[in-house]
Amino acid sequence: MVGIACDHGGYELKLQIINYLEKNGVEYKDFGCHGESVDYPIYARKVGQAILDGECEKGIFICGTGIGISIAANKMPGIRCALCSDCFSAEMTRVHNDSNIIALGGRVVGPELAIKMVDIWLNTPFSNDERHIRRINMIE
Ligand code: RB5
Repeated sequence: MVGIACDHGGYELKLQIINYLEKNGVEYKDFGCHGESVDYPIYARKVGQAILDGECEKGIFICGTGIGISIAANKMPGIRCALCSDCFSAEMTRVHNDSNIIALGGRVVGPELAIKMVDIWLNTPFSNDERHIRRINMIE
């Protein structure tokens, strides 16, 4: 299960990503918002907590820049949220960081690039390499 959330700055892009998830049969839970002006830390916490509780394996966050929601998410121990605006980073953050949330900027990236990044990120496994596990443990 993938948790997805946004604030008002990411709402339009969230709808397009949900369309991609539905077309590709990816199970998801939408934690809001629905276009109204909201405070992104609240939505970061909703999905972060769902991951920590085991309800979701991964999360997708979208705010205006992706920055605020990623800063908020990364305050939660166990959450590794990667702000991405290129496909290489979207791939490498799975391989090296085992990131469990991808953050995107709805006012920064276009929908085609965002969907490509989500597709790569969802389908790239963690390397399970000892040195990367060690570094992730050091973060925790
Ligand atoms: C909301 O206007 C905006 O500040 C938010 O979406 C995000 O970009 C914050 O980092």
